[in-house]
Amino acid sequence: MYKHPRLTSVKIKGYRPFRDFVAPLSPLEVIVGSNGSGKSCLFEFLKFLRDGMQGDIPSEIIPGSIGQQIFHIPGPKKFAWDLEIDLADGVPVRYQGELTGPRIRHEVSTERVESATEGVRPFLFLDRRGNQGFIHQPAGEVHAEIQQEMVSRRDRLALGTIADPRMKILLQLGDYIRSWRFYSTFNIATDKIRKPVLVEPEPWLDEDGGNLSAVLHYLMTEHPELFDQLQLHLRGQIRGFQSLTVKARSAPGEVMTFWREQGCDRELSLADLSDGSLRLICWFRPLPAPQPALSDLYRRTRTGPSSPDLSSSSCLLR
Ligand SMILES: Nc1ncnc2c1ncn2[C@@H]1O[C@H](COP(=O)(O)OP(=O)(O)OP(=O)(O)O)[C@@H](O)[C@H]1O
Ligand SMILES: [Mg+2]
Repeated sequence: MYKHPRLTSVKIKGYRPFRDFVAPLSPLEVIVGSNGSGKSCLFEFLKFLRDGMQGDIPSEIIPGSIGQQIFHIPGPKKFAWDLEIDLADGVPVRYQGELTGPRIRHEVSTERVESATEGVRPFLFLDRRGNQGFIHQPAGEVHAEIQQEMVSRRDRLALGTIADPRMKILLQLGDYIRSWRFYSTFNIATDKIRKPVLVEPEPWLDEDGGNLSAVLHYLMTEHPELFDQLQLHLRGQIRGFQSLTVKARSAPGEVMTFWREQGCDRELSLADLSDGSLRLICWFRPLPAPQPALSDLYRRTRTGPSSPDLSSSSCLLR
């Protein structure tokens, strides 16, 4: 049976508030904690890895941040990660790495991907140390040409540079990390949402919600039951709301969402809606992923003073 790949555990050492953070993850986690407990930093760190799969690591590490103390204080100018991931075909792997300072001139010093099947000797798929690195196939063969490419850039994660189709596990792992999405309730581009957008074949909701009409078009045509659920949800939340529909508009291939409400004898479009109504649509749970995760586990975290260990202070609620 096909399984979705899944992040099952995160360890972070030396990044911002995380002196030595570890958290096993179930399919759905809700992270709650007081101000400054490290919630945003956890997602920021995962986002750093996601962005590292598709481009250079920016000089300030987190794009757009200036003057941030990236390395945990007090501590050395380096941070490390150790992720456990179950890949789609059930292969558990571990992705470890380390980035060393100083700030602005940091470099990826180590990176390692190995199998993590319990009781079985790990197989090393990728091993990078400073300027040396190897990539192995399960048959044990080393590919020198990829080796050169991956070590030549110290401001890039080697895993993100793998393109050889023979490296199935490394490609699957890179693609999975690249597919992570981080939605913020604050970061919604209502100006983009108000304009027609191009239809996409199987769209993911952009992190700023900008392609909302393309996603609604996909739900309306491919998942009408979810589209109806959304309308039901809006009827319960917005007085007078009647229906939504997505239609072709302006340039070829572009669509726009239209809205009917009581007391308005003409259709309105998303261009006419309030910021709050647009946010409410974006927050509809199945929008980012029409096939939702199955489990309902909730994590609650307590805070520590300056170096919270969210794992040891967390408890699980059902
Ligand atoms: N380099 C660093 N070394 C040690 N601690 C740091 C470092 N950088 C940030 N911190 C701590 O991490 C905190 C920021 O954590 P974060 O932004 O993840 O909190 P949060 O849980 O998202 O809080 P909120 O609920 O207010 O958004 C800072 O307030 C500071 O205490
Ligand atoms: Mg925060």
